[in-house]
Amino acid sequence: MTILGIETSCDETSAAILEKSDEKLMLRSNIVATSLALHTKTGGIIPENAAREQIKVILPVIKKSLDTTNIKLSDIDAIAVTYGPGLIGSLLVGVETAKTMAMVLNKPIIPVNHMLGHIYANWIENPQIAFPSLALIVSGGHTDLILIKNHGNYQVLGGTRDDAAGEAFDKIARLLGLAYPGGPLIEQKAKLGDPKRFDFPRPLIGSGDYDFSFSGLKTAVLREVKSLTTNRQSLTTNDINDICAGVQKAISSVLIKKTLKAAEEYQVKSILLSGGVAANQTLRDAFAFEIGNLKLEIGLFVPPAQLCTDNGAMIAAAAAYNFHPVPWRDITADPELYY
Ligand code: KG4
Ligand code: ZN
Repeated sequence: MTILGIETSCDETSAAILEKSDEKLMLRSNIVATSLALHTKTGGIIPENAAREQIKVILPVIKKSLDTTNIKLSDIDAIAVTYGPGLIGSLLVGVETAKTMAMVLNKPIIPVNHMLGHIYANWIENPQIAFPSLALIVSGGHTDLILIKNHGNYQVLGGTRDDAAGEAFDKIARLLGLAYPGGPLIEQKAKLGDPKRFDFPRPLIGSGDYDFSFSGLKTAVLREVKSLTTNRQSLTTNDINDICAGVQKAISSVLIKKTLKAAEEYQVKSILLSGGVAANQTLRDAFAFEIGNLKLEIGLFVPPAQLCTDNGAMIAAAAAYNFHPVPWRDITADPELYY
């Protein structure tokens, strides 16, 4: 089966061709057009700007996803599209394009929850993941722990109460005068910094539940920045590097502690990291180290960095394992979609 996956929930416009035969997935193409340069200028995403850019590129992106393979549009067996959560203008671009294609070409269409897409990015290179599985989704808008008992059988264990992990990286980067998106820059600067200089809070680390909260961390950094700049104009390079190292350590510690606690409680066989923040190599290494340190017999899976951030391949993969086509007329973009 050959699936065209379309993703436009935020600032990326992506289309991918994924083949599934038996239990194997083969990614034939994954084209991602990003309007990041636009958002770097404004220090964050302005939804209207993102959607306008996506309208321009959606058709060329889909065409390119086919042209880089020998697969023709008529060879596509189904179309998968993100229908939420996300920015309404952005979602509409993908959803209406996919619905039109499904109607004109008379192909099945599968609406996909963007968050499940992030989880399924793990299956693209590892189709043999053992259940039960625990997914930690860490993206710009979400920090969720999801227990996956089988394909299509999920239980949300916890989520963010305020800022998501990626949002915390982005907002803290802004406080430090770093560009958007903040995560990759904080990771880069943290490599040169001392994570012990600042003792930033590890919010909710000891709470009995699986919820997360990172807004207090942002406030703690703001306080530190104010105190460091009381008698001088700006932060030094060392200050910035040390704050980045401290922040990355605080966020990683909470994510790892809570994920491993849930993994033990629910006796999972695998942990799946996903979402943009999972591209953070220091976080990936720290997870692997802690699993080894505790001698847990749990497989750790992380998609390659380019499949952690938003892409069409993950949407096609989610549809491949949850193949539930619906009439195109019944699909509506849902910015607030939950699981
Ligand atoms: O999953 P994603 O591409 O989009 C959403 O669905 O939100 O995630 C974007 C987030 C941004 O907040 C960005 O700062 C963060 O992922 N991010 C990182 C890294 N790369 C991207 N955070 C930490 N370290 C990174 N290397
Ligand atoms: Zn995402």
